[in-house]
Amino acid sequence: MTKWYDNAIIYQVYPRSFQDSDNDGLGDLRGLINRLDYIKSLGVNTIWLNPVLTSPQVDNGYDVSNYYTIDPKFGDMATMTELIEKAHQLGLHVLMDFVLNHTSDQHPWFQDALKSPNSLFRDYYIWQKTDNGLPPNNWGSFFGGSVWQEHPTEPGAYYFHLFDKHMPDLNWRNPEVREAMIEVAKFWVEKGIDGLRLDAFIHIAKGNLRQNYPTDSTQPVVAEPMFANLPNVVTYLQEFINELRKINSDLFILGEGASADPKLAALYTRKTNGRALCDAIVSFRNLPKKKKTATSLSTTLQLPQPEVLDVASLPVSIVEWQTTLAQTTQPTLYFSNHDLPRMATAYGDPQYPAESLKTLATMLYLQKGIPIIYYGEELGLKSAELTRFSAFQDQTVTDLEQQVPEGQKQAVLKALSQVHKTAARQAMSWDQSSNNGFSTHEPWLRVAPASTTVAQQDQDANSILNYYRALLKLKQSSLFSKGEFYLLNSSMKTIMFTRKFHGQVGLVVTNLSDQERTVTLPNFSLGQPVLTTGEWQQKAEELRLQPWSSVVFINSSVQ
Ligand code: GLC
Ligand code: MG
Repeated sequence: MTKWYDNAIIYQVYPRSFQDSDNDGLGDLRGLINRLDYIKSLGVNTIWLNPVLTSPQVDNGYDVSNYYTIDPKFGDMATMTELIEKAHQLGLHVLMDFVLNHTSDQHPWFQDALKSPNSLFRDYYIWQKTDNGLPPNNWGSFFGGSVWQEHPTEPGAYYFHLFDKHMPDLNWRNPEVREAMIEVAKFWVEKGIDGLRLDAFIHIAKGNLRQNYPTDSTQPVVAEPMFANLPNVVTYLQEFINELRKINSDLFILGEGASADPKLAALYTRKTNGRALCDAIVSFRNLPKKKKTATSLSTTLQLPQPEVLDVASLPVSIVEWQTTLAQTTQPTLYFSNHDLPRMATAYGDPQYPAESLKTLATMLYLQKGIPIIYYGEELGLKSAELTRFSAFQDQTVTDLEQQVPEGQKQAVLKALSQVHKTAARQAMSWDQSSNNGFSTHEPWLRVAPASTTVAQQDQDANSILNYYRALLKLKQSSLFSKGEFYLLNSSMKTIMFTRKFHGQVGLVVTNLSDQERTVTLPNFSLGQPVLTTGEWQQKAEELRLQPWSSVVFINSSVQ
C-alpha cells in the first residue's frame, strides 16, 4: 500500500537557528511559521523539526524536562498548533524529534528518583550500586567520560547516561517507562503531527551492566556492542510503534539508527504482521567516507579528522543500500545534519564551489530514496568559523584551549570549525540585513556576514537555490520518486544510473571529479536533457562532462 511518506522530501529545520521572530537571538516557532512559504517554494513536502519541548538546553533540546509543553524560548502550544495547521494548509507534513532514550535530569521523574532509593520513579532510570568506589563498568559515554554518574548524596549509587551526565537514560526494561513514553507520543500524534524522528532509539536496550568491555585502556570506552542494536530494541520498538499506529495508521516513523548498516536498517524496517517497525532509517553510514590526512598539529592535539567522500567506494555503497532495503523501505538520502559538518564544508570542491554541490545533490537525491535537506544546504551554506573555544559549547573543546599554544589558537579554531557539529548549526542566511536577516539581536551562535543569502540566490537563475528547486521538482515526479533504480557500470568518478517507471526512463550522469570525463551512454532514445549543470558535450553515445558537471535525461515527458 502506498503511503504519503513514500514520496517524502524532507527539509530539516534546527529551530534555534532558522528565524528569530522576537529578537532574542534564538530562532523560534513564530519565525518558522513566517518562513513556511519559503520552505514550500523549495519543493519539499515535509519538515523535520529538531526538539522544541521544554528543556534546560544542555543538549539543545535533546534533554527534555517536560514532554507536554513547548519550551518558552521557542513559543507555546498555541504557536505549535498554528505551525502544524499552517504547514498542513501548504501541503507540508510535520515530523517532530522524539527523544525516548533519555530525559533531562531536571525531568520530574528523575528529580523524584534522586530523592530516595524507594522513589516510585527510581526504576524509571538505570541504577547500579558498587562498594569499591568505582563505577559499575568501563563503558564510555558518547559525550566523554564514563556512562556512570554517582548520586550526589548516596555514595556508591550510580545512574547511567549514554550522552551528557544531565541526560539520564530511561530504563526501557520497566513496563511503566514503556507505557509512559507511549502516552507522551500519543499526545503528539493526537495533536496532529505526521511523524516522529526517533532519536537514538537503537540504544534503548542495554547489555549486562556488570560486564566490562574488553580493552587495554584504563579509560572508559565507547562500547557500542554493549548498548547499541541489542535484540530488545526491536521488541520495545514494535510495542511503541504499534500503539501509535492505532491512532494514526499513516504515522511516519523515521528512526535514527546512527550506526546501522544496510542489514540493520532492513531489520528495523522489516514488515512484521503486515506492519513495519520504522518506515525509514537515518544512518551515519549512508555514505562511504574516508579521513583526510591529518596535520601534525591536529595529530598532537588529537582533533577529530575531517572526512571526505570516498568516491571510489560510492558505487558499491549505493548498490548495497538500494538492494538491501528494496524489500522493506527505501534509503534516506542526505549529506549533512545537525550532528555533522555542513555538506559544502565537508564535500564541496573549493575550486568548483557551486558546481560540485549541484552535482553531488543530483547524484544523491535522484536515487530512489527520501532526501533530507539540512536547512541552508540549498544555498551552499558552509559551517561557520567559530572564533572562540567556548562557542562550541562542548566541554572537550573548552578543555582543549589550555593545551593550545597562543600562536596556534586561530589554526585550531579553524580546524575545529570544519568538523564540529556546533559550527554546522549557525543561523540561516536570509538577506543582507543585520545578522543575515536572522535576528536584530546577536544570534546565539555568532556568525560572520554571509557571503550568500536567500535574497541574492532567489534573483539568480544559476544559483544553487534555484538549481535545488529544479532538482526537487524532478524528484517529485513518479519517475524519480517511485521508479526502479539501476546503477549503471559507473567508473570510479562518474556515477550514472537509471530510474524506470511505467515505460518512462530517466538517466542521471554525474562527474564527481575536477577532471573532464567521458562516458558512454546506454543505448536508448534519450530525448532532451531535463536538468544540467556545468559544461558538457554529447556526440552520439559519447557524453563528455567537464569537472563536476551532470546531465539528467528523460526519454519521455515527466508525469
Ligand atoms: C541524537 C541527536 C544528537 C543528540 C543525541 C542525544 O544523536 O541527533 O544531536 O545529541 O541524539 O539525544
Ligand atoms: Mg526568538
